Amino acid sequence: MHARAVTASATALLGTAALLFPLSPARAADSGARPVVVAHRGASAYAPENTLAAVDKAAALGIDWVENDVQRTKDGELVVLHDDSLRRTTDVEEVFPGRAPWMVRDFTAAEIARLDAGSWFGPAYAGARVPTLEQFVRRVERHGQKLLLEIKHPQLYPGVERQILKVLGNGGWLDRRHVKHRLIVQSFGADSVRAVHDLEPAVKTGFLGTPPVADLPSYAAFADQVNPTHGSLSAGYVAAVHALDGPHRKPLEVFTWTVNDADAARRVAGFGVDGIITNTPDVVRDAVGG
Ligand code: G3P
Ligand code: CA
Repeated sequence: MHARAVTASATALLGTAALLFPLSPARAADSGARPVVVAHRGASAYAPENTLAAVDKAAALGIDWVENDVQRTKDGELVVLHDDSLRRTTDVEEVFPGRAPWMVRDFTAAEIARLDAGSWFGPAYAGARVPTLEQFVRRVERHGQKLLLEIKHPQLYPGVERQILKVLGNGGWLDRRHVKHRLIVQSFGADSVRAVHDLEPAVKTGFLGTPPVADLPSYAAFADQVNPTHGSLSAGYVAAVHALDGPHRKPLEVFTWTVNDADAARRVAGFGVDGIITNTPDVVRDAVGG
C-alpha cells in the first residue's frame, strides 16, 4: 500500500478508536490535554462552603465537578460539612450555647437543620443550611454536574461507607453512567477507600495523600486516584502514579488540591495532573483551560 494511503488508514483508525475509547484523564494528561477543574466544597471562594449555594455558584460558573465532605449526625443522617465541629461555619454557638465543642456527631439532623450556615460567609447568604447528602446529590444532579465525594473523618463514623453508597444508590448515582463518568469517592482514610471499593467495585475511588512512591502499588489495588496536596507534588511523582494501573485496569490518576491561583494551576498542569481541586474554579479554568 502507498505510504500516504497507509497514513490515511491509520488516521481513520485512530479517529475511530478515539470515538470508541475516549481519553481517560490520565491518558489525556499524557497527551498534553487539560486537567479537569473541581470546585472545592463547591465554588467556596464565592459562596459558603459545602452549601447548595456553593453548588449553584459552581454551576453558574460552568464548572462540572463539585467536591464535598460527608459526615454523620447523632441520629444517623448524612450531612455535608467539612469540620468535625459545627462551630466555624454555622451559628451553632448562639443557637445551642453550652454544647461545646459542637461536634457534628453530637447533634441530630433536626438540630443541624435549624442552623445558619451562610451568615459567617456574608449577609447575602444568611439562612443557607447545612445540606443533607441526599439534598446535595439532588442539586448536583439537577445541574448535570459530577461529584467528587469525600468521606470526612471516617474513623468517627463506623459503617459510613455503606450508608453513603445507599444514599448514592437511592439517588440513582450507582448506575453505569454515573459510576463511569460522574462519581468519584475519596478519603484520607485508606481503610475507608478500600471499604468503598470492596462494597461497590464499580465505583471510582481516590486516596487523599502523598504516599511514598514505593507504597503506591498497594494503593493501586483499591484506589483509582492518588490525590496529593499541590505543595507535595512534582512531575516525577505524577509520572510514578501514572505508571501504575488501578483496580479498573486504567492508569492511576492524580487530582491535586487546593490550588487557588493561576501560577500554581499552571505549575501543576505542567506536571501532568488529571484534575485540579480549587476554591476558585473560574481562575483555574482560565489559567489551564480545563
Ligand atoms: O478534595 C481534597 C481536599 O478537600 C482535601 O482536604 O481538608 O479541604 O477536605 P480538605
Ligand atoms: Ca474535602
